[in-house]
Amino acid sequence: MNQIETAPELTEIVETGGQTTGAQWLSRYSSSLLGVFGTPQRVLVRGAGCLVWDADGKEYLDLLGGIAVNALGHAHPFVTSVISSQLATLGHVSNFFTSPTQIALAEKLLDISKAPAGSKVFFANSGTEAVEAAFKLARRNTGASADGTTDNTATPRTKIIALEGAFHGRTMGALALTAKEAYRAPFAPLPAGVVHIPFGDVDALRAAVDETTAAVFLEPIQGEAGVRPLPAGYLKAAREATSAAGALLILDEVQTGIGRTGQWLASGDAGIVPDAVTLAKGLGGGFPIGALITFGPETSSLLSAGQHGTTLAATRWRPPRLWPPCTCWRTSRS
Ligand SMILES: Cc1ncc(COP(=O)(O)O)c(C=O)c1O
Repeated sequence: MNQIETAPELTEIVETGGQTTGAQWLSRYSSSLLGVFGTPQRVLVRGAGCLVWDADGKEYLDLLGGIAVNALGHAHPFVTSVISSQLATLGHVSNFFTSPTQIALAEKLLDISKAPAGSKVFFANSGTEAVEAAFKLARRNTGASADGTTDNTATPRTKIIALEGAFHGRTMGALALTAKEAYRAPFAPLPAGVVHIPFGDVDALRAAVDETTAAVFLEPIQGEAGVRPLPAGYLKAAREATSAAGALLILDEVQTGIGRTGQWLASGDAGIVPDAVTLAKGLGGGFPIGALITFGPETSSLLSAGQHGTTLAATRWRPPRLWPPCTCWRTSRS
């Protein structure tokens, strides 16, 4: 096979940003990219460990980590080699097929989340897509299986409870769960049925969860609201209230999962088994990936063949053995 050469212009841009200054790149940015993020603060051309460099050659200590994404820092050699060797071996295969790496990654997630037998994984491409899948999972909950029997003829519930201050993503289902009015209002009407209750208030939670509730969505630590942990005991109270009502307890660990708090899941020491957990961000260390873990056979059977999917869900690559807990890999510098 012929050696494929990288376009020289692209190589130069990737490695140095080319001859173009940061200001020139920003001018090209505003002419070519949709303005949903406002003006970027810097044009970054390279990273190594916890350092990044901008198009004007300035070095920065990266304390943001891609908003909880770069759990192993930038350009970690192991992550780079895993992704490039997998791409050189077998990239996308479509959902008509599977691959050993997709299966191994699902098993790894079930293992680190201590999921019981019968638990399953759905792969997505982002956090909001993982939440979107969880939203659809909730919409299939009839509550009928709370006593261990599944009644497929019962009507699925539509009431979903989320917290004030919650951020769960920007697609329409996830946005319905997100509390901030400024994000929601321009896109009304959002999918119906979501009720936001006061943050961390167990009594409000107990009063809200009833026999019509499909699910309660919680972030163990709210990120967008200012790194706000749920009070001690709240998750346990949520587990009790949802179990009693036949509602699902769905934990959004897109921001807090994969070692962010020193354990695989921030909810890991809460002493509960949720019905579902969403992951993304640190899961790929920069490679776009999200996941929904469904706990136990009953919850895992709520979505059946044909009820959900995404093209790239089959492109899931080998789990890096170096996964966190660890937040920064520092490059050795002379
Ligand atoms: C808790 C939580 N859920 C969902 C999302 C959405 O993830 P993404 O931006 O990958 O769509 C975020 C993003 O910040 C988040 O913090």
